[in-house]
Amino acid sequence: MTNFITLGIESSCDETGIGLYSQQDGLIAHRLFSQVEIHKEYGGVVPELASRDHIQRVMPLIKAALKDGKIKLTDINAIAYTVGPGLAGALLVGSAVAKSLSWSLKIPALGVHHMEGHLLAPLLEYKQPKFPFVALLVSGGHTMLVDVKAIGQYKILGESLDDAVGEAFDKTAKILGLGYPGGPALAILAEQGTEGVFKFPRPMIDRPGLDFSFSGLKTFARNTFFKHQEQKADIAKAFEVAATQTLMIKCRRALKKIRYKTLVVAGGVSANKALRNELDIMGRKLNVKIFYPRQDFCTDNGAMIALAGHLRLVKGQESKNNKIVIKPRWSLEELQTI
Ligand code: KG4
Ligand code: ZN
Repeated sequence: MTNFITLGIESSCDETGIGLYSQQDGLIAHRLFSQVEIHKEYGGVVPELASRDHIQRVMPLIKAALKDGKIKLTDINAIAYTVGPGLAGALLVGSAVAKSLSWSLKIPALGVHHMEGHLLAPLLEYKQPKFPFVALLVSGGHTMLVDVKAIGQYKILGESLDDAVGEAFDKTAKILGLGYPGGPALAILAEQGTEGVFKFPRPMIDRPGLDFSFSGLKTFARNTFFKHQEQKADIAKAFEVAATQTLMIKCRRALKKIRYKTLVVAGGVSANKALRNELDIMGRKLNVKIFYPRQDFCTDNGAMIALAGHLRLVKGQESKNNKIVIKPRWSLEELQTI
């Protein structure tokens, strides 16, 4: 078989990501532009500014990735782009570019589910998880436990009823005056804090089931900070311990329930060291193997979209029309298998 190369485009939120995935050589190039500096002064993502910046970045990043991968645009066999979920205007940019290139190069294009991209990101690594597995997806927009039987066969076991865990990290960081995006900053501050000075609740662990709720933690952090303004690091620590232990407890419950021996953890918060530590201890006790993406591919990137699309495109799946489609809301359970 001749080599098959997929171009991946990610533009669902505040990162423009490009990936090139080759059937023969795996990931051959990836480029990322983060809009953090643009949104920082507003304390959160401004959707219109995000869309405008994606428009400016996407073509130069594609060119740079092609150069890195030492290939030409015409060497590409297919295009994968994030079609949803995400910000409508931001998704439109990736979708429009993908469909235009697909039409002009006469090659197939396929809309990828952003969370499937996260979920499959560990498959970019040398040591890969085997199906079936439980996936814990923890990002700025989602917190989910998923029963993954195969690619495209996803059953959501539990999800957040309110804030996503990344969102709770970001909001708590904002309360502590750590700026945006606060998750990584809060994690760094927590390293200086002492565990046990403050005790935060572990939301919903005494209730059966696998759903999450994180908005109460943020409120708890606000009230604690109000009374103890000088003890930021201890508050950050208490928040991080409560959030990561809650995630661990729910993972343990899911693994005991469906008895898989593999856990995949992905999405922005999977970069968190305290979470990895907590889960690794649990994994050793339960004899469960845990797989994470490399640090760079925990948060949004084009490599995971290139891979997720590639696995489907090589099997002949494609979007059959030239319409510029987006799916700002789209459940993982609606995906096709391959
Ligand atoms: O997956 P991602 O890049 O974007 C979404 O799809 O939402 O996740 C971003 C989220 C943000 O909430 C960010 O604060 C959080 O992941 N995050 C972290 C860490 N790194 C990123 N949260 C805690 N600890 C970290 N080290
Ligand atoms: Zn994401």
